[in-house]
Amino acid sequence: MNKSVKFIHILAFTILGFVSCNSPKNQAIKSKVDQKVDALLNLMTLEEKIGQMNQYNGFWDVTGPTPKNGNAAKKYQDLKNGLVGSMLNVRGVKNVKAVQKIAVEETRLGIPLIIGFDVIHGHKTLAPIPLAEAASWDLEAIKASARNAAIEASAEGINWTFAPMVDISRDARWGRVMEGAGEDTYLGSLIAKARVEGFQGNDLSAHNTIAACAKHFAAYGFAEAGKEYNTTEVNPSTLRNTILPPFKAAKDAGVKTFMNAFNDVDGKPATGNAHLQRTILKEEWGFKGFVVSDWGSIKEMIAHGYAKDNKHAAEIAIKAGSDMDMESYAYVNHLAKLVKDGKVKETLINQAAARILKVKFELGLFDDPYKYCNEEREKKVLGSKKLHAGALNMAKKSIVLLKNSTNLLPLKKQGLNIAVIGDLADDKTSPLGSWRLASEDNTAISVIEGLKAHSSNNITFASGPKLYTGTPTFVKEIKINNKDKTGFNEALNAAKNKDVVIMVLGEYGFQSGEGRSRVNLGLPSFQQELLEAVYKVNQNIVLVMMNGRPLTINWANDNLPSIVEAWQLGTQSGNAIAQVLYGDYNPSGKLPMTFPKHVGQVPIYYNYKNTGRPKTSDHDANTVFWSHYGDISNEPLYEFGYGLSYTTFTYNNLKLSAKSLDKKGNIKVTFTLKNTGNYKGKEVVQLYIQDLYASIIRPVKELKGFKIIALKPGESKEVNFTIDSKTLEFYTANNKWEAEVGAFKVFVGGSSKTSLVDSFELID
Ligand code: BGC
Repeated sequence: MNKSVKFIHILAFTILGFVSCNSPKNQAIKSKVDQKVDALLNLMTLEEKIGQMNQYNGFWDVTGPTPKNGNAAKKYQDLKNGLVGSMLNVRGVKNVKAVQKIAVEETRLGIPLIIGFDVIHGHKTLAPIPLAEAASWDLEAIKASARNAAIEASAEGINWTFAPMVDISRDARWGRVMEGAGEDTYLGSLIAKARVEGFQGNDLSAHNTIAACAKHFAAYGFAEAGKEYNTTEVNPSTLRNTILPPFKAAKDAGVKTFMNAFNDVDGKPATGNAHLQRTILKEEWGFKGFVVSDWGSIKEMIAHGYAKDNKHAAEIAIKAGSDMDMESYAYVNHLAKLVKDGKVKETLINQAAARILKVKFELGLFDDPYKYCNEEREKKVLGSKKLHAGALNMAKKSIVLLKNSTNLLPLKKQGLNIAVIGDLADDKTSPLGSWRLASEDNTAISVIEGLKAHSSNNITFASGPKLYTGTPTFVKEIKINNKDKTGFNEALNAAKNKDVVIMVLGEYGFQSGEGRSRVNLGLPSFQQELLEAVYKVNQNIVLVMMNGRPLTINWANDNLPSIVEAWQLGTQSGNAIAQVLYGDYNPSGKLPMTFPKHVGQVPIYYNYKNTGRPKTSDHDANTVFWSHYGDISNEPLYEFGYGLSYTTFTYNNLKLSAKSLDKKGNIKVTFTLKNTGNYKGKEVVQLYIQDLYASIIRPVKELKGFKIIALKPGESKEVNFTIDSKTLEFYTANNKWEAEVGAFKVFVGGSSKTSLVDSFELID
């Protein structure tokens, strides 16, 4: 290391005076950071600037011997030479300290690394999968959950998460629906904001806040036919009105980074898509953070047939606005030459490096590169009681009661003989779901454990046939068992003569997630057969679903008295499920994604556009000439926003304060919600509108507001929403966000199949 140069660099910062930049108080502070970035850039060689734009995966046992050969040796040398700006998948204080030490103490300028990791739903202590959390509709709880994840991850040395994933998806075949907030743009935007605020906190320079990353920009969730990494067919209106708003919400919430995507949009891979990354994100929205590529997505432009070779891919990506290269080796190997050959302007490199350095300054890494590396804190925080309590709270809120037609639930806590059936019931790994890279197998509270801990009932467990063979991992597909029926009869025997049978069925933990697209949305393996066989010996079944995506459970819905959607709820799964089944907690979750009746209906979503031939009285439904299937209804199994409670709610007296509003005015929507059942409970009341005619066809319904209302039995409350012209805006045929005059309907209710309706007009 050249100590004198490093001294100059330190001096430059000292002269400028370091002030924590994340305080929102004034812009002057921000510009100080920019000055520091400029001062530092002036000291950097072209190669060092490009180094900041290079991100490597953790590459050797960082605290072990120095790698001598192969990829690891190259990465190690690059790191020592100041050619690495970030690493991912290095975690644990000891390991992070070791790589940070090389960057800070052995490179010429001592620029600290930013350490990234997929902190997706909790870290070591897992919260419910993001789709499950979205089912809570509880923005404060979701924010708190992201906050806890940041607290735990930062204690392990991490300072940047690749979350939230804000991809809207309408296709349950796509395995990554588990990682997002579901199908709705409005709900998804609010959740995006909550998650960004949770991860980043009020002060990014604190030791327990981390930079967030809105991903995958853009349209990854629209993979054609739900097939992972597939092309997308997205028209400009869908892009603007449906896909981009959650990204914009993340940007407005101050998200520091974006990640681009594997897919192409309009024939251009997102990574090489200047329209998305430069025109929309950086110019139109004024995003000041940096964009990281997805894993290897720069070089994947070769396979896409968009780049000739990796050098060409580097040229396309930098020109299109990708600032950091995750694991393509494209920037580190080719950018300097591209600049020297005059193919890429050095200003593009300066801008990208500046964006990255700025976030490092904002995190306070220049102040103290080891600020996330406190071993005592690591010991104290990881797996702490507080984090477990937070995970349990979030898990209970995420559960959705899908059916309880005979009020079989909640169950009594004593005196019952219960059979618990299903391979997933004693599984301590599957409830952790996918994207749980920092957690250990076998650490979730299983359903059996939860049930036993919460009651003195007599519980018999029979797994039935194994759902899968082998040990599930994040990376490889394992075999679903469709041969070995061992355990079938034992399960039937266990079910006989019991007061209640709790069947825990669904997907194993890695059956959804990245690379886990599938076309069968029914219960995998022998589970459906087992369910029907058990039903023949005992109909008093509570089905507990454990899954990472909507499944087609029509038979269960048609036949069983009670169904509970318990997703993959994380470390505290079994406790949360037990508290709901025993009535310690009255469920209030609502589905953030439509459950189809049949995979052939997919993509299916509540806010579809009308065709010219909807089912109306104008069309004789006895003819075939309207938009429908001949062999199944258009209706889903469970609609978006659906979810029951142990109590019941009624909606009455919908009133609008006026029948028209102008662009400056507003209308107050009021209605009465009443708890008409026997339990205190919470209801997520939902407000939808329909724009009846517009310059671009609008959906039949769009969510525009929701509130969580708690009521005691017999209690009523008047609930209000306000509609103004902002509520009615969309990206119009004029290519801008605006409200168009015209006629609207307004709906309220407890799901997207709303119960009350009225109408109003927007006038000039
Ligand atoms: C995923 C990203 C993730 C990255 C790093 C990719 O395969 O698409 O969402 O952040 O890997 O782990």
